[in-house]
Amino acid sequence: MNGNRQKLIEIANLRKYFAVGGGIFSKKQYVQAVESVTFDIYKGETLGLVGESGCGKSTLGRAIIRLHEPTSGKIVYDGTTIYDSEAGTAVPMLPYRRKMQIIFQDPSASLDPRMTVGEIVGEALDIHKLYPGRVERRERINQLLDEVGLNTEHANRFPHEFSGGQQQRVGIARALAVNPEFIVCDEPISALDVSIQSQVVNMLEDLQQEMGLTYLFIAHDISVVRHISSRIGVMYLGSLVELSESYELCNHPIHPYTQTLLSAVPLPDPVKSRARQRILLEGDIPSPINPPPGCRFHTRCPYATDACTQSMPALKEYAPGHYAACHKLDGQ
Ligand SMILES: Nc1ncnc2c1ncn2[C@@H]1O[C@H](COP(=O)(O)OP(=O)(O)O)[C@@H](O)[C@H]1O
Ligand SMILES: [Mg+2]
Repeated sequence: MNGNRQKLIEIANLRKYFAVGGGIFSKKQYVQAVESVTFDIYKGETLGLVGESGCGKSTLGRAIIRLHEPTSGKIVYDGTTIYDSEAGTAVPMLPYRRKMQIIFQDPSASLDPRMTVGEIVGEALDIHKLYPGRVERRERINQLLDEVGLNTEHANRFPHEFSGGQQQRVGIARALAVNPEFIVCDEPISALDVSIQSQVVNMLEDLQQEMGLTYLFIAHDISVVRHISSRIGVMYLGSLVELSESYELCNHPIHPYTQTLLSAVPLPDPVKSRARQRILLEGDIPSPINPPPGCRFHTRCPYATDACTQSMPALKEYAPGHYAACHKLDGQ
């Protein structure tokens, strides 16, 4: 289905480790936050990315736009290699910062409290030397505020004067200021009141249509992304375990972890919802400092065999466009 669609981003074996410790009394260790992740993002799509808190979604999103410098792997943006650890390629990112933006989870923490909304949105224009004339700059800021449903008068106010939903609108205006092509939406509604979550999601969808944007939409809850994503990727402890077209993934999940996640999502029909068996995982999610060998999910997987303890399964295509990384699937 995606055969004739154009790729905007290709990542291969992307890895991000964080060094921790290494003080006088402690040994240096590595948080293996993202482990060898490979996938493509198509132009104009919304790719949903889900998984439990701490599984590496934000780190992956930030590594793709090199807000976190990757530890190794390859990133191709619209046909140009912007990072390749093997070839030693790491291009200057300033021109790409205009194309790739991010909306953060917590709007209050991501907006500078000492700057007015106008300054926050205008800063991106200044960095990229867009709209240098005072009048044009002002007009552009007003236009952006209008696009996200805020008023011109809001430009002179400070972030603390706004509600969470309005702050997130400012964060969105800041991301849009430079006319980006790709936006990492990192749980943009998780910190917001439930009553306004759908307003912000609808606005992001409208903006995508209007501006032809491509989104990587991160959520810890699959029900948030299932309706807005063309495809969904599922992460567990730093690995991408399944990736497929959204309807297919939600209705025919093939990885045991995805099946578990979906069994916890409420169904619209309460009778069906009650009748359905919820799969409960045993144990806690292991530490990414010392992840299990082999398949990272094997310590909690009801189907794990010896093979699962020995090698990490590769992501393979089991049906057209439907990928999973699981040794059990090979045995069938
Ligand atoms: N700057 C950092 N330094 C050290 N560890 C980090 C850093 N950022 C994230 N981590 C760790 O990496 C793992 C993945 O984190 P994160 O990407 O934030 O997960 P998610 O977004 O899925 O909740 C977690 O164990 C987290 O504690
Ligand atoms: Mg996160």
